[in-house]
Amino acid sequence: MKKRVGIEALAVAVPRRYVDIEDLARARGVDPAKFTAGLGAKEMAINDPGEDSVSLAATAAARLIKQQGVDTSKVGMLVVGTETGVDHSKPIASHVHGLLKLPRSMRTFDSQHACYGGTAGLMAAVEWIASGAGAGRTALVVCTDIARYGLKTAGEPTQGGGAVALLVSETPDLLAMDVGLNGVCTSDVYDFWRPVGRREALVDGHYSITCYLDAMAGAYRGWRERAMEQGLVRWDSKLPSEQLARILYHVPFCKMARKAHAQVRLCDLEDAAGPGSVPAEARDEAAKSQASYDAQVAKSLGLNARVGNVYTASLYLALAGQLHAEGAALANQRVGLLSYGSGCCAEFYSGVVGEKAAERMARADLDTVLAKRERVSVEEYERLMNLPYDAPEAIAPEPGTFRLAEIHEHRRKYAGA
Ligand code: HMG
Repeated sequence: MKKRVGIEALAVAVPRRYVDIEDLARARGVDPAKFTAGLGAKEMAINDPGEDSVSLAATAAARLIKQQGVDTSKVGMLVVGTETGVDHSKPIASHVHGLLKLPRSMRTFDSQHACYGGTAGLMAAVEWIASGAGAGRTALVVCTDIARYGLKTAGEPTQGGGAVALLVSETPDLLAMDVGLNGVCTSDVYDFWRPVGRREALVDGHYSITCYLDAMAGAYRGWRERAMEQGLVRWDSKLPSEQLARILYHVPFCKMARKAHAQVRLCDLEDAAGPGSVPAEARDEAAKSQASYDAQVAKSLGLNARVGNVYTASLYLALAGQLHAEGAALANQRVGLLSYGSGCCAEFYSGVVGEKAAERMARADLDTVLAKRERVSVEEYERLMNLPYDAPEAIAPEPGTFRLAEIHEHRRKYAGA
């Protein structure tokens, strides 16, 4: 029998401050409806230099271990997915390993490919366990990022930050992965990038949306072909994508999930009908079905709308939001997941929600994680954005969290937990 492998549990860490998206719109002289209805945002997480990608990753991982009682002596791999590296050479995974005092007998490395780096790390962990190479050990995969475009840019309302830590094992209480069905699609494009030495990302915003949708279509069709071979979906009165209970997308801003869902449906509608059999306008309308979006996507976006883009962690924040909202109702049902990283690579995969998903999610205590945050004014947000990255303010870390305390002779020192 094939091993059951997947995500056993997760934990979330977010910066302790956020700005209300309508406050930001008003400060920029923009109709707030553009950011709320147009982009789907509500709040945007703001980090200060003490809350860097390392401290967020370590906080999420420490929380996972504590909340879920993880036996760290069984962890054989620690992968950090990030595009907010702090060093060309020393991986964030090594910092997390040290801060959490994890056993020495484990693999540690970072995985980078824009927002796709977390999924690349997750698949390395899943396939390591599924192949038997893990020999019964578990893996920690931590997705951590700070999305930063800069003040008064088009990307500004799509910033955010945070980390999601995943425990991967042969006890997939949250999501048992359909190993071997993944569809992938890659292309060499400049849609979003951050040259070495730059703090802010560069982006060709509208083109990046086109790249996302194009790569996603390739990845989805690849998954669908294999899922059909295995009899998991079929051509039927329901579209193949409708045979998934929910579909979770990479969420750079919430409206993108709506566009992505319409694209998945369009792939099905085009391929089911054959060229010319249904007028293109009718197909486009059916692709945009509000009912399908409400049923399959809308409930996954509760956390993303309140945190913003978390790059590698965005898809896993959507998974957290989905299982937080409907963990019990989705037990034993198959969901699809779409990861996208600029540059670009998309991967579509699926898995079955576990019977203990609701119980595991209750331990993650996500309502408290978000409720503890402080709303700040746009002036305070701008002050935080203008602080130098290497001189964190001296603030005592909240219990159970880490903060960057100082950088001395190019060595980072952390406090807390
Ligand atoms: P923009 O040009 O300022 O906005 O930038 P817009 O004019 O395209 O308007 C946005 C939406 O608001 C539109 O809706 C408007 O109609 C609507 P749509 O037509 O797209 O459905 N709108 C309004 N709605 C209601 N009331 C109003 C109103 N006015 C306008 N008054 C853009 C938008 C997303 C391009 C910008 O914020 C940006 O560049 N963001 C960063 C790039 C990004 O997020 N790209 C997403 C795909 S790439 C990706 O996901 C990878 C990434 O995560 C990075 C990685 O992989 O590492 C980014």
